[in-house]
Amino acid sequence: EERSIGIDIGGTKIAAGLVNQDGEVVCKKIYPTPKESSQMVLECIKEIVTRSTLYAEKEGIKLVGVGIGSAGQVDYKAGKILSGTDNIKDWNDIHIYNFLKRYTDLPIWLDNDANTFAIAEYALGNAKGTEDLICLTLGTGVGGGVISNGRMVRGKWGGAAELGHITVDMNGPACNCGSNGCLEVYASGTGIANRMREKLSRTDVSSYTENPNLLTSKEVFQLYDQGLPLAKETIDQAIQALSYGIVSLIHTFNPSVVVLGGGLVKERDWIAKAIKNSIQDKGMTSLIRSVDIVISNLGYDAGLIGAAYQAWFHKKVD
Ligand code: BGC
Ligand code: NA
Ligand code: ZN
Repeated sequence: EERSIGIDIGGTKIAAGLVNQDGEVVCKKIYPTPKESSQMVLECIKEIVTRSTLYAEKEGIKLVGVGIGSAGQVDYKAGKILSGTDNIKDWNDIHIYNFLKRYTDLPIWLDNDANTFAIAEYALGNAKGTEDLICLTLGTGVGGGVISNGRMVRGKWGGAAELGHITVDMNGPACNCGSNGCLEVYASGTGIANRMREKLSRTDVSSYTENPNLLTSKEVFQLYDQGLPLAKETIDQAIQALSYGIVSLIHTFNPSVVVLGGGLVKERDWIAKAIKNSIQDKGMTSLIRSVDIVISNLGYDAGLIGAAYQAWFHKKVD
């Protein structure tokens, strides 16, 4: 039996698993992303690969490759992180391929995490059967992946489709990337918590949360569910930002489907509905009308599955 190792490196957690050819995750382990140094992140990847190899030998499983999806700007041909994201410490200029090939003979693929998510959606998920899709992952950061005409949009070395960093308000708050008013500052987990914190700083905080510095997007959603007006403003703002961002993406790519994934939208189908509603009166009717907005049905695992799936698929979706 053949399996591929998939690793999804995010700002909060590293998800690793063995995936079969049907895209099913047959075993899985989650590690918190080491905050100390990028070297620790590399050690974690090495451990995943060596452990999986031992396990496979024991179980008589044939491993076909290692696929890694990581946040940051990835030179996918070189297998290297060029510049990262502030969400992972010192995640710059990291030659993952050179590091890992010392410990394994398996083929290694490295890609941006949202790109691997898009591969999974295209090959196995909600977007299966379409050639034109846009993926947005809403987690610690906002990631993007675009498949157009059945091909991944990559640009010169693979850095294309940083969709979390399209500006939706040029007067908006500063973003880690150096720009302003990016989608990520409104619609990521960190962004939602920050925007809520701003609103709380203008009011009597104590009645909502003990320490606003520790506020998380999860709590913002809880407060939203309880009907707190400031939380409603914050989530509405995220939905508005997503709506305008998605309208611009629809204008650019004429996709048939926009798939949303990541921890923020899991089990929140209403977010897709709200965006779908909101974009109806924005932008060019012919383009808007032909798009569906859906939540990923692959759950938390899409990035991991997509990474692993490169072993079988990477020639198809290059
Ligand atoms: C990074 C992307 C990444 C996304 C999701 C963003 O902040 O710029 O490279 O895909 O977060 O992890
Ligand atoms: Na991407
Ligand atoms: Zn940005």
